[in-house]
Amino acid sequence: MGFERRDNSAVNSVGEKMEQNMRAAFLPGNRKVELRTLSVPHPGHGEVLLRVKASTICGSDIRCIYHEHLGKGPEGYQGVIAGHEPSGQIVEVGPGCRRFSAGDRVIVYHISGCGVCNDCRRGYMISCTSEKYRRAYGWQRDGGMADYMIAEEKDLIALPEQLSFADGAQVACGFGTVYEAVEKVGVNGNHSVLITGLGPVGLAAAALCRKLGAQMIVGIDIVPERLRLAGSLKLCDVVLTAGQDNVAQVKKLTRGFGVERAFDCSADARARGTAIRATRKWGRIAFVGEGGTVEFNPSPDMIHDQKTIYGSWVTSTWLMEELVERLVRWNLHPADIITHRFALEDAADAYALMASGKCGKVAVCSDEELAPK
Ligand SMILES: NC(=O)c1ccc[n+]([C@@H]2O[C@H](COP(=O)([O-])OP(=O)(O)OC[C@H]3O[C@@H](n4cnc5c(N)ncnc54)[C@H](O)[C@@H]3O)[C@@H](O)[C@H]2O)c1
Ligand SMILES: [Zn+2]
Ligand SMILES: [Zn+2]
Repeated sequence: MGFERRDNSAVNSVGEKMEQNMRAAFLPGNRKVELRTLSVPHPGHGEVLLRVKASTICGSDIRCIYHEHLGKGPEGYQGVIAGHEPSGQIVEVGPGCRRFSAGDRVIVYHISGCGVCNDCRRGYMISCTSEKYRRAYGWQRDGGMADYMIAEEKDLIALPEQLSFADGAQVACGFGTVYEAVEKVGVNGNHSVLITGLGPVGLAAAALCRKLGAQMIVGIDIVPERLRLAGSLKLCDVVLTAGQDNVAQVKKLTRGFGVERAFDCSADARARGTAIRATRKWGRIAFVGEGGTVEFNPSPDMIHDQKTIYGSWVTSTWLMEELVERLVRWNLHPADIITHRFALEDAADAYALMASGKCGKVAVCSDEELAPK
């Protein structure tokens, strides 16, 4: 990508005046957000330039980057423009692009892989094995907390007109991740579901399980605002405050059996234990929350009850496309769990709010997405 200066009067191919400079947010650590002004980059071969319309904040950004730079390997932050959940409109297409054109609305699958290793060929660029080429947006290459961003065409998912850019940003990580976990364990109308951790990822799990027909959805969290939100959005049928009695409470709600499916979206050791123990015989548990530990007794907690624990990491590009198609069919709008929208200049307030947990999903938006209809 190049950084030569643009002609101020230039108009891009979607008819907007092309700006020369852009603002971008960086996360230096210590709960700081730094806004810098940079030249708008040019797309290189196989790349596009996006006008970012919505860029949401993930629990992972807070856990690994915002407080301090704790992440290692794929979660190592390399001082780039933050934001791994972007959605926007293409304003310029670099040479060699094969599918997308200026004006197209897109979601950025948030990890750019080499494209040719076995994992990339399966669509799981998240698991790309190329140390040289694997770069996640907002972690190791510039992400979406900016007016514009460069993305590789192969990382893009088409965003249909029925979905807003804020819906799209939600798919880039949270809803995509949860869709993968839901597909792995399988959820249908025979199932009661437990979700531990009602942050945006847990709420997304509830929203998808609801559409798949789950018969009862129980949610657990420690933050009262999140419990209230899960109830008021009608995503959970029952919400419980995290505590010692959770397993007994869930069993009581399920005639002594426990739930058929559980999703841990908290990463908390006790909540993970609850998810395992409150699942009934032959049940399936997905671990989505990242980091931390868990303690359980394999024989009574798992083996003798024939239970399976699945680990689930992000998703593939093709499942993300499938999810987008289903969201339209189901008339499900992931942006409904966004409780707060901020302009880019107020990104510091957005991160601070997400770090407090007193919110649903938090989005940084521009143009029409800042004040949705
Ligand atoms: N597996 C993946 O591919 C993937 C992708 C995205 C995010 N994540 C992870 O998923 C998790 C959730 O993401 P998020 O954006 O919703 O983050 P978040 O931090 O907003 O949500 C976590 C929630 O868990 C709750 N919690 C903490 N202790 C609890 C307990 N004992 N019992 C019940 N709830 C408890 C918190 O109050 C919070 O509401 C994070 O760990 C994130 O890193 C994983
Ligand atoms: Zn994320
Ligand atoms: Zn690869």
